[in-house]
Amino acid sequence: MSLLNQDLDTKLSLNENKNGLESLDIQINEGEEVPFQDKGHKPRELTEDEKLKLESDQQLVSEFKRNKYELDAKKNWDLFYRRNKANFFKDRYWTFREFDELNEDHHSIENDESMTSQKPIKKLIEIGCGVGNFMYPLIKNNKHIFVYACDFSTDAIQLLKSNPDYDTNRCLGFVCDITKENYLKECLPENELVDAVTLIFVLSAIHPDKMRKAAENIAQVLRPGGIVFVRDYGIYDHSMIRFEKGHKLDEKFYVRQDGTRTFFFSLEEIENIFLKPVENSDVKLFEKSINEYVFRETVNVKENLRVPRVFIQSKFIRTNSHFSRTC
Ligand SMILES: C[S@@+](CC[C@H](N)C(=O)[O-])C[C@H]1O[C@@H](n2cnc3c(N)ncnc32)[C@H](O)[C@@H]1O
Repeated sequence: MSLLNQDLDTKLSLNENKNGLESLDIQINEGEEVPFQDKGHKPRELTEDEKLKLESDQQLVSEFKRNKYELDAKKNWDLFYRRNKANFFKDRYWTFREFDELNEDHHSIENDESMTSQKPIKKLIEIGCGVGNFMYPLIKNNKHIFVYACDFSTDAIQLLKSNPDYDTNRCLGFVCDITKENYLKECLPENELVDAVTLIFVLSAIHPDKMRKAAENIAQVLRPGGIVFVRDYGIYDHSMIRFEKGHKLDEKFYVRQDGTRTFFFSLEEIENIFLKPVENSDVKLFEKSINEYVFRETVNVKENLRVPRVFIQSKFIRTNSHFSRTC
């Protein structure tokens, strides 16, 4: 382990003991970000130390515990929000820079009758909205947008609704498990199709076996030409390297100290979730618009820490192929 990493781990583990593993995210988020950002299609290269650390962590958590984490997924997110209230995640202002379509002045063709994503985004579903760190900046920034905001944590939705900016003319919060068949569709007014769906650090919280089901449920409520915006953890993000032994559930899938889980995506995996044809057919529900790694570096000046962050950022466009769960 290099001196820098050793130093980093010592400092971070102090933090960890006090608050649990996820506090690293706070530590990093609150750090001052240097204006470094790069994008690409190849994963980050690991250092020798990082390779060794990942290679030495092969032992998976027992099957009994893995099943229990899945059964308790909602409970663990509820406890997370009960403990952290609305103070954990930072407001997501970067979305306007990265996803131009969400800006009020985005150039769009208002009267475009074709099934294209050029139509303005007027209705959007934010899935796994938490307490609204993405939604509140969005409705403030874009006066023409209405947001359905859902999360499977009842506590998160309560906190979302207790925000003084919660206004049912602009948004509607509700509890929904995105992996349950037809659940999302049934939460919306009958036959409602929206212009866009956002998944901001949500797919990673879902068991890999259920991610495709989430995409299918989204396809039921997104109009042809509508956009799915995804931002999530990418493979070899610093938070993946930091997991100590005893947290690995599967390849690239880890459990935090508080029982919440996180997956680290390659571009191929994200593509597979959205682009895989519907079973027993060659029907595709989505087309790829963008799918790339975002490389950042986060610096916490106070702690003198500098760590590489990797995210995946993608846009998928709903095709006009018919899709219903009953077919
Ligand atoms: C890492 S948090 C991200 C919260 C928010 N999107 C943000 O970026 O601030 C993941 C969120 O996904 C929610 N979640 C996990 N599994 C879900 C599911 N099956 N259906 C809906 N929401 C889910 C959790 O409750 C949690 O609020």
